[in-house]
Amino acid sequence: MTQEMIVLEKINKSFSGVPVINNLSFMVHQGEILGFLGPNGSGKTTTIRLLNGVITPDSGRLTVAGFNPVTAGDEVRKRCGVLTESAAFYGPMTARENLLFFADLYAVATPTRRVDELLHACGLTPHADKKVAVFSTGMKKRLGIAKALLHQPEILFLDEPTTGLDPEGARTLLDYIQELNRRFGVTIILATHLLKQVETLCHRFIFIDQGRLLADGTFAELAEKYLTAINLQVETDLEITGTEFQGFPLEKNTPGFLQFKVERKEQIPFLLKALLASGSVYSAQIYGRDLETLYFRIKEEKA
Ligand SMILES: Nc1ncnc2c1ncn2[C@@H]1O[C@H](COP(=O)(O)OP(=O)(O)OP(=O)(O)O)[C@@H](O)[C@H]1O
Ligand SMILES: [Mg+2]
Repeated sequence: MTQEMIVLEKINKSFSGVPVINNLSFMVHQGEILGFLGPNGSGKTTTIRLLNGVITPDSGRLTVAGFNPVTAGDEVRKRCGVLTESAAFYGPMTARENLLFFADLYAVATPTRRVDELLHACGLTPHADKKVAVFSTGMKKRLGIAKALLHQPEILFLDEPTTGLDPEGARTLLDYIQELNRRFGVTIILATHLLKQVETLCHRFIFIDQGRLLADGTFAELAEKYLTAINLQVETDLEITGTEFQGFPLEKNTPGFLQFKVERKEQIPFLLKALLASGSVYSAQIYGRDLETLYFRIKEEKA
């Protein structure tokens, strides 16, 4: 049985009387990478802060690794690594000095080795002895990740970890996150707007808006529920006039390409057979079966 590492039950939080988190319930199982999605101001960072005991809920129940972050904050922080939107460092100190400082604070057993390991993993070895004050946004981000991992946490909260990273840096980091999850079973909550990057990385997704849960499920489950119609683009020599082909509605008709809308994926082989019986098909591609389309469909449906 999978263990529930993080549980939120009917959590409410207001700031100066304005509700920000509304009756929010979800859980994260051990060893899961959860994509935490929602528009600006929907409450992702606030939720992460609640889970870390930085702020307290007005009502509801929270547990992280079996502990209540409100009453057992130290136990929670011991087990969790957090990358916040803007991690704070000491500018006049080098990257290595900063990490060694925090390693000391977290009582890391072999600080020098651990810091070297993380500098390497985060691609910072060449910059290890530069002052953080002159670091670029992406370099600071990488350092923030190294800091979050210092004490080998079993749970990681990553708030927009790849924002500001170049494509190479983002890829390296996401691969590293995946490795941490696969090799050490680290449970991860990943808040992001970069949907393409996390589509295949996350095991499950939570969508929130205005502090409310909109949807919760794996990509396949959510696609099944929300992405009903499928757009299929076919590269073909067939020329069709009209708005349909043998009962399949045509969405777009451009020279060399036809785009169809099919209601269920089970219809695709029939459509392809029909096309092949009348002409050549060079390629066929499904459109709109991705996390971004899902995001907009869920927002539309729940609006
Ligand atoms: N300390 C605070 N005092 C007052 N309002 C706050 C505070 N922290 C957050 N909020 C409000 O709570 C709402 C949710 O903010 P939050 O930072 O959690 O959103 P988010 O989902 O992380 O957004 P983004 O995608 O932009 O990072 C916003 O309306 C924000 O202004
Ligand atoms: Mg945020």
